[in-house]
Amino acid sequence: MNILLTGGSGYIGSHTVALLAGAGNHVVLYDNLCNSHADVVTRLNRIVGRSLVLVQGDVRDADLLERTLQEQRIEAVVHFAGLKAVGESVADPLAYYDNNVTGTLCLLWAMQRCGVRTLVFSSSATVYGDPQYLPVDEMHPTSAVNPYGRSKLHVEEMLSDLAASDGDWRIACMRYFNPVGAHESGLIGEDPSGVPNNLMPYIAQVAAGHRDRLSVYGGDYDTPDGTGVRDFVHVADLADGHLAALNYLGSSEGAGWHAFNLGTGQGYSVLQVVREFERASGREVPYEIVARRPGDVASSYASPDKARLILGWQARRGLDEMCASAWRWQRYGERL
Ligand code: NAD
Ligand code: WQD
Repeated sequence: MNILLTGGSGYIGSHTVALLAGAGNHVVLYDNLCNSHADVVTRLNRIVGRSLVLVQGDVRDADLLERTLQEQRIEAVVHFAGLKAVGESVADPLAYYDNNVTGTLCLLWAMQRCGVRTLVFSSSATVYGDPQYLPVDEMHPTSAVNPYGRSKLHVEEMLSDLAASDGDWRIACMRYFNPVGAHESGLIGEDPSGVPNNLMPYIAQVAAGHRDRLSVYGGDYDTPDGTGVRDFVHVADLADGHLAALNYLGSSEGAGWHAFNLGTGQGYSVLQVVREFERASGREVPYEIVARRPGDVASSYASPDKARLILGWQARRGLDEMCASAWRWQRYGERL
């Protein structure tokens, strides 16, 4: 299949490119490189053993998108491109609505004009807001607690309206829980610029000696050890989930709008992750328990049953593999 991956040189996009290209698809990366490097494509070429196409462009550039969809004879789009930092979205909401909502709208217009009506969208468990029950299944009410989350929710609603208006659309919203880990080759991984916002890259930098200690945000939550609990899911499992979604959308049941949780169904606490990372790396991860981070919830984890039953997808990699691959990337991966 000919597949366009917007945001294809980013963290989750690049792992999905590696899988889809490795499975023999013609993949085209479309990225403005605002949060990634063109060098990722050189690494992906090494992983897949052939030269991939990167179109350097913005999803808000409808003309370039249309030309790309036509020239590359694209049949399906996986839409990763977007901004993802919650704090930044609070400080600069317009940038988030512009990039994430207007960007998706431009993409949809271009797809409609070119007759491409199969789309897998990078959504997030953030669309559930503060969990009202656990595990969180796809029937859980949606809400948003910050502009980033609202941008994802707006897009999901837009996609649902579109699918309802025209039965030819085949759309899957993939609601990722907490993506972590890196490719087994050690060639690609998460490479946040500046101080990492997320737990796993922060721990990796502490283990490597680049930062003194981890601040654990809150030790008094109503969880087994008092620290936050999350559903960490290996990025390579997410990639498998996108392949499964594309297969499903292409099947006789794929028409319409669908939402799927991508998580393991198993919650781990911050301190459990610290301990597992110490085991995987053989390094100590000093930490200090500090005040809760505003906006955090005690626990969040998925019910992945729908993805298992309908897509035949299940996360296969455990916390040990998540930590080991994140450490391999931190320690031995050639940094960009
Ligand atoms: P990332 O920043 O590594 O990748 C996003 C890519 O999109 C980058 O390469 C960036 O350069 C590109 N991009 C951004 N705006 C663009 C634009 N206007 N036009 C073209 N390219 C653009 O992030 P990621 O972690 O790989 O996330 C991918 C998607 O998954 C995002 O939509 C994000 O919101 C969503 N998501 C991520 C997480 C997470 O924790 N990483 C969790 C849930 C959902
Ligand atoms: C995990 C746990 C923290 C850093 C975020 C977004 C969400 C989604 C995934 C995109 C929490 C604790 C963290 C640190 C810590 N992204 N922590 N010290 O907040 O669950 O989700 O990323 O869609 O929308 O909100 O992930 O990795 O930041 O935090 O103690 O230095 O680790 O308090 O309990 P989060 P996270």
